[in-house]
Amino acid sequence: METYILGIESSCDDTSAAVLRDNKILANVIANQEVHKFYGGVVPELASRAHQQNIIPVIHKALDAAKIHKNQLHAVAFTNGPGLLGSLLVGASFAKSFSMALGIPLIEVNHMHAHILAHFIEDPQQPQKPEFPFLCLTVSGGHTQIVLVKNHFQMEVIGQTIDDAAGETFDKAAKIMGLPYPGGPLIDKLAKKGNPHAIPFPHPKIPELNFSFSGLKTSVLYYLRDQLKKNPQYIEENKEDISASVQYTIIEILMNKLRKAAQQTGIRHVAIAGGVSANSGLRQTMLQEQEQSGWKVYIPKFEYSTDNAAMIAMAGYYKFQEGDFAHQQVTPYTRYSD
Ligand code: KG4
Ligand code: ZN
Repeated sequence: METYILGIESSCDDTSAAVLRDNKILANVIANQEVHKFYGGVVPELASRAHQQNIIPVIHKALDAAKIHKNQLHAVAFTNGPGLLGSLLVGASFAKSFSMALGIPLIEVNHMHAHILAHFIEDPQQPQKPEFPFLCLTVSGGHTQIVLVKNHFQMEVIGQTIDDAAGETFDKAAKIMGLPYPGGPLIDKLAKKGNPHAIPFPHPKIPELNFSFSGLKTSVLYYLRDQLKKNPQYIEENKEDISASVQYTIIEILMNKLRKAAQQTGIRHVAIAGGVSANSGLRQTMLQEQEQSGWKVYIPKFEYSTDNAAMIAMAGYYKFQEGDFAHQQVTPYTRYSD
């Protein structure tokens, strides 16, 4: 029997709905919120209001695109955390009501696990799926983790940031440069034309497999402040080199710990996931590593890197098979827990 799952994602600033038939995506609709662009980051109150406006049209659109009727759905999977509470509540409330009205199971999904499980979405362009156990560098706007993925459900965080996340660092560096939010994709674009060695930003010395990015953020701030005193046009004249140097430093910080994790665990199957895995420099560096170190590298399709409901539906599908359903009383959580 074919299983149809509706996935709902509303943890941050994207409202998304997807329909999955088994592990194939029939529809994946995303409404981005432009409203945060000039605030330098997501404004939680504005995000939850925009989710409220977007959720019903996005779900209609996904069902239409999938060419199925809501009565054909077998379950509703939704992001229950981590994320912004007000944003999560919109998706959770809708998912609860919809599952109750349709009389089908409700499935709660951990957003960070879903980023990893996006690798299992069936796609003719990416027939190879990661083999267990594998390591996953999960890098987003709110999290930076090295995860030991044992199976579709057991995921152990073996390293994580002690302060800012990698995506947040891209966004904050962009903000200092006067670029709009989210700055990650803009830095990526500018970096392509710049020299990654133009500015030698310092690397943190953090024990174990953990990361720190707050020092980098501060050194970008001070470096640019000093340069601007000498030349008020410094950022405008050097934005490609600044972007390339910031991006290179973030990638090196990430890769050094990922190499260490591979060495310590002896695991050679290594994946990346989350919004920052859309970064072209990180993708290229992972492919180089595959050539040099004999890793088997897994890079998600671009559209499944940043936030989307396809990954939520995918995670929901595995839970559906296990009969792992949520109660109506389940409440969203803001911080990661595995
Ligand atoms: O996973 P995601 O879409 O949302 C969260 O769960 O946080 O990640 C968003 C983050 C943002 O910080 C954004 O700037 C970053 O991913 N990002 C990128 C790129 N695309 C998105 N960072 C660097 N290069 C990119 N191409
Ligand atoms: Zn995410």
